[in-house]
Amino acid sequence: MRTEVAVIGAGPAGLLLAHLLARAGIDSVVVETRSQEYVASRIRAGILEHAAVELLTSAGLGDRLHAEGHEHRGVYLQWPGERHHLDFLNLTGRSVHVYGQTEVQKDLVAAHQGPVVYEVTDTRLHDVHTDRPHLTFVDRDGVRRRLDATVIAGCDGSFGPSRAAVPESARRVFERTYPYSWLGILADVAPSTDELIYAWHPDGFALHSMRSPSVSRLYLQVPNGTDPAHWSDRQVWDELAKRLGHGQNGWTLTPGPITDKSVLPMRSFVQTPMRHGNLFLAGDAAHIVPPTGAKGLNLAIADVALLARALTAMLRERTTALIDTYSDNALRRVWRCTHFSWWMTTMLHASDDPFDAQLQLSQLRWVTTSTAAATGLAENYAGLPLTFA
Ligand code: FAD
Ligand code: DHB
Repeated sequence: MRTEVAVIGAGPAGLLLAHLLARAGIDSVVVETRSQEYVASRIRAGILEHAAVELLTSAGLGDRLHAEGHEHRGVYLQWPGERHHLDFLNLTGRSVHVYGQTEVQKDLVAAHQGPVVYEVTDTRLHDVHTDRPHLTFVDRDGVRRRLDATVIAGCDGSFGPSRAAVPESARRVFERTYPYSWLGILADVAPSTDELIYAWHPDGFALHSMRSPSVSRLYLQVPNGTDPAHWSDRQVWDELAKRLGHGQNGWTLTPGPITDKSVLPMRSFVQTPMRHGNLFLAGDAAHIVPPTGAKGLNLAIADVALLARALTAMLRERTTALIDTYSDNALRRVWRCTHFSWWMTTMLHASDDPFDAQLQLSQLRWVTTSTAAATGLAENYAGLPLTFA
């Protein structure tokens, strides 16, 4: 097999890249270890920033997003006894959309007409630093295949082989771990809030998000290593009620049947550069952010928007300026989002240190009372323009 762009991974980064390339008349083949059904049902992110909505819309992927997604003007920030609304639209002219990653994935599967080879095993990258890069993999019938390409796009998330295909001497890794995780639930109950609530609480952070008018998504800060099976549904709702301030100022949290319960570890990770020869990294393959601030999916979309434009210029117009600056340009946004996600995470998660708690509360009071501070948060949360790079 031969193609112009061999894409590893059919998550949002890989499928969106293949779709954008196809619209520019560029061939690709996507290989994916999981089945199409598995990839489309993974419960993950839920918030699309302004530029991601614009990009998906301009790529012909906006119909369901605009019909079924919900535009939010901002979020609530709270701590015991106080809840404040930050209005991103007033502060920055930009809003966000609540639209699950599962739905983005379904829209991509429906729109992308090109070849996607699901359920492959043993994906290997070869000669990525030469002008004859290729992949080998074993297809679902057990046959080893070879795929030759002009370039390889590593969109294989945090556990794929692409990032390790860059030799150690040619890469740098920056990392931060956090002493807590999130216990996330999906529940068949109408959200108890019109917009997301990010709650600081001395017993730990809580987040009330949603997926639709009848499905809620909520998170609790828990210690690393927590087994979700050790939390009964009742305990989860009681803890959420306490941390989210049930009963305060007339606000109530309505519990309902929990349909999914899982624990997410947290990590900041960046591997640089995002290019090695003819291998280009995009999305979680190159960087991971902790979820506070909802940047993971949005960053993957932004990388791919840059990469698709740069590959189109390289393969169709024979100009290399954009592809030569892809890594530096993408990394400027990556580091901005890495800082924002780290900042939101450290501002909102409880620690044992009373000094930290006072700094967190001071910072929360500042971002909810100073227009300058609120605008900084809003600008990062609603997202920078795709031209930020
Ligand atoms: P992925 O979605 O991970 O896609 C990579 C694809 O590559 C996968 O389909 C994988 O199966 C495939 N692959 C891996 N190895 C191979 C191989 N060897 N060969 C072929 N294919 C391979 N972000 C938020 O903003 N908010 C959230 O609430 C949130 N929750 C999350 C919960 C979980 C459990 C996880 C893991 C992530 C979450 N994220 C969240 C992050 C967000 O989902 C990711 O940033 C986003 O999925 C990145 O997209 P991607 O396409 O780069 O990577
Ligand atoms: C969701 C996840 C986040 O990490 C976040 O900051 C906001 C919302 C969600 O899954 O809905």
